[in-house]
Amino acid sequence: MFTTYDVIVIGAGPAGENAADYARQRGLTAAIIEAELVGGECSYWGCMPSKALLRPTEALAAARRVPAAAAAITGEVDVEKVLRNRDAFTSNWEDKGQVDWLEGAGVELHRGHGRLVGEKVVEVIAEDGSVTRLEASEGVVIGVGTRAAHPPVAGLSDIITWDNRDITEAKEIPDRLLVLGGGVIGTEMAQAFARLGADEVTVIEALDRVLGVEEPFVSDEIVAALEAEGIAFHLGARAEQVRREGTDGPVTVTLASGDEVTGDELLVAVGRRAPTDQLGLDTIGVEPGRGGFIEVDDHLRVPGHDWLYVVGDANGRALLTHQGKYQARLVGDALAGVDVDPAWADERAVPRVVYTDPQVAAVGLTEAQAREAGHDVTTASYNVGHSAGGALLGKGTDGTAKLVIDRPRRTILGATFVGPGVGEMLHAATIAVVSEVTLEQLWHAVPPFPTVSEVWLRLLEQVRAQELGA
Ligand code: NAI
Repeated sequence: MFTTYDVIVIGAGPAGENAADYARQRGLTAAIIEAELVGGECSYWGCMPSKALLRPTEALAAARRVPAAAAAITGEVDVEKVLRNRDAFTSNWEDKGQVDWLEGAGVELHRGHGRLVGEKVVEVIAEDGSVTRLEASEGVVIGVGTRAAHPPVAGLSDIITWDNRDITEAKEIPDRLLVLGGGVIGTEMAQAFARLGADEVTVIEALDRVLGVEEPFVSDEIVAALEAEGIAFHLGARAEQVRREGTDGPVTVTLASGDEVTGDELLVAVGRRAPTDQLGLDTIGVEPGRGGFIEVDDHLRVPGHDWLYVVGDANGRALLTHQGKYQARLVGDALAGVDVDPAWADERAVPRVVYTDPQVAAVGLTEAQAREAGHDVTTASYNVGHSAGGALLGKGTDGTAKLVIDRPRRTILGATFVGPGVGEMLHAATIAVVSEVTLEQLWHAVPPFPTVSEVWLRLLEQVRAQELGA
């Protein structure tokens, strides 16, 4: 006996929820299967709690930059309140609000582990072991997200470490925090915990720079800002071995150089893997690739299985909530038979914000990526702190803004900003990249005075000066 829906979604994170919701909005019936909390990693152990941990000290730092306001700040943030506020943002790790939302959207929730058992047939194994069989008349969408990956470092699997879940759920701030991996999670959490009172925070990064996918100046500026706050960095440092005294004693990481660093907790943030090994993909002859990611075409379909879609982190195209939701919108329409464009923004125009202070905001290609892709490139750079808006933000407002321009087409291929709050400036760049606005058109997009967005004008002036000088 099957229960039949038009669409079955496995995984109720932001991407899965959106795929189901968009399918419903197009008049299809939809079921969604979730083994843990409805809302997924972003709501409970990612975007939301991490930003709740970062925002209070960011607000304090913003006020401290303004000399007259700084005088009014006589204390530190209330860490207890920060943690309680974080608990509120995650609804205390309860998903009632999101379950109600699904119900309102007309999506039927099945709690349990979902696995394919054949073409368009999915089994749900509930916690009590009972099994329900569901059938999809139109398609199945996989949106199972990712989990923290663990590198093959000797001793690492023998001891208790933290991953993104443990650190975003932390009930107290450890005195000494070690962070393995200077990527997005590593840099954000290093600063959050240093600012929330950890005495020592040490980041160990295998590459010679942090946030290695971004423009090289990003690493220089973020490392300088975080070092100024007392965070230590070991760059180009490979962790060789890890050991812990007892079950909860100090953790020591031995680096390839022979140096040792010791802390009370070790956050492992070296990338992600997709939990696709128990999804029954073998029953339909699909084998996930490296890291468990499932390859899809530009319509987010698994090649050779035009009824099977993968949205969000699990397809490995762009591991960001907003890109997963973008994919889900396209898939919701495609399932309903609406002719949709293939996805491309999740490859060519991905907006990325790292919520450190200063923030990093980037979209599209870096200069190196653009050159590698064969573009004839010119660039312009300017310090956001030198704009009138930046000066008004206060002392120490600093950071580079850079445009990567396609010289013959006169369009923007990519933009990167470092500076306080620059995440809110990014969407203008995203629109420029996606719309392929020319430099001549941008000349008429006048940034208000005195905002930080005036850096746009300075950057355009610079390109013009380069051209006039040429
Ligand atoms: P990541 O890929 O951003 O960074 C991992 C870092 O670990 C890399 O710099 C890598 O070189 C380093 N690494 C790898 N193996 C290592 C080893 N054995 N020793 C030392 N370093 C090593 O991955 P991360 O930080 O785990 O983030 C996971 C995902 O979560 C990202 O894909 C990101 O998109 C998402 N995320 C997004 C945020 C945002 O949008 N603000 C915030 C946090 C996470």
